[in-house]
Amino acid sequence: MALLPIIVAPDPRLKITAKPVKNVDIGVRRLMDDMLETMHAANGIGLAAPQVGDKRRVIVIDIAGGDEDPDPIQMANPELLWVSDEMQIQEEGCLSLPEHYAEVERPDAIRVRFLDYQGEIREKEVDGWLATCIQHEMDHLDGVLFVDRISLLKRNMILRKLSKAKKQSQPAPA
Ligand code: NI
Repeated sequence: MALLPIIVAPDPRLKITAKPVKNVDIGVRRLMDDMLETMHAANGIGLAAPQVGDKRRVIVIDIAGGDEDPDPIQMANPELLWVSDEMQIQEEGCLSLPEHYAEVERPDAIRVRFLDYQGEIREKEVDGWLATCIQHEMDHLDGVLFVDRISLLKRNMILRKLSKAKKQSQPAPA
């Protein structure tokens, strides 16, 4: 397994529409393994392939807390089959928007179909925090960040701070 560099916004690679995988082969499983390792190392609870510069529709999630056993979920080609009319608001963060958080409103419950680590077609109905996380990661596959779901004012403020931090972390030109 390998740690992959996580892309920080603003970056055009976070705005792509990712492509479905044909099947879950050894290459896709390796990507899932590397993404989970990268996510855990960064203390994240979810990661989508475009965040590590990969264009495939793959996401990983693990919402187990610090002292709980890991509970990883790997999904390829996730699709929403149903969303509830009832909405929920959660405070979201993102490994590609480090140290920024905002309240985002999304459907409270979802049914999702996907290919699992073994390549089997699975369906899951979930609500609450896990439903938020799955929707957040699925957004990444369509180039959507959580800041695209909040006010323009707050979005611009966060992206401006991230741009500034990026410039400061780059070495001065010689
Ligand atoms: Ni994210």
